[in-house]
Amino acid sequence: MADAGGNHDHAALMDSIYRGQKYIYDVTRKYYLFGRDDLIRGLNCASGDAVLEIACGTGRNLAKVQHAYPGTKLFGIDISAEMLSSAQAKLGTSAILASADARQFDARAMLGRPTFERVILSYSISMIPDWERAMRHAATLVAPGGSLHVVDFGSYSARDTLGARILKWWLKQFHVSPRLNLPEVAEEIGAQPGWRREGRDGMGGYYRLERLYRDAGATD
Ligand SMILES: C[S@@+](CC[C@H](N)C(=O)[O-])C[C@H]1O[C@@H](n2cnc3c(N)ncnc32)[C@H](O)[C@@H]1O
Repeated sequence: MADAGGNHDHAALMDSIYRGQKYIYDVTRKYYLFGRDDLIRGLNCASGDAVLEIACGTGRNLAKVQHAYPGTKLFGIDISAEMLSSAQAKLGTSAILASADARQFDARAMLGRPTFERVILSYSISMIPDWERAMRHAATLVAPGGSLHVVDFGSYSARDTLGARILKWWLKQFHVSPRLNLPEVAEEIGAQPGWRREGRDGMGGYYRLERLYRDAGATD
């Protein structure tokens, strides 16, 4: 597994959260990280496509991608060595994994290729301090004809209801901050020449799904 260092304070914070949580992550998060399977259904991968998950955590999504789309090539990066050890145990040699900071990394040097047909950010922008930078960097990794898929907490978390207040309190325990301006940042990328955007709410705004498509004829 390649190691590029990254931001040490943030990496240490993530490791401190996930050192114990990684053992119960997959079973507990299925009760509140909704929309991840919605994102995977929308990938529409073909055999041979390269799929990169930025901040892949335990590898839960990549394992599901492998099952849903046989023949895809799997890649993942994460800043937490603790999470990467879980992903490595789950995915074995079927994925190329590396330690990296989502905000800036050299995909060619670390993963062996500069671009990917599908790039995923799933419930990670709400944990990345400079997440807009991570989104813009993710867009640079999309191959012509490929797409960037983002899912995270939506506008529900900003409501003044008991349910939303409990959710926000719970997320704070894990240093998670819903990014209510995700649609605006996605729109900014989607408005660039050679890009097209589709965004929608899921479960009444509990989650937000953004898809950004890069034209097949696009050049760098
Ligand atoms: C809530 S988990 C999501 C994991 C997985 N994507 C999923 O959907 O289950 C957030 C992940 O983001 C990672 N992360 C946070 N900040 C990061 C950064 N700056 N660069 C790379 N990974 C980061 C954490 O280590 C953690 O694995």
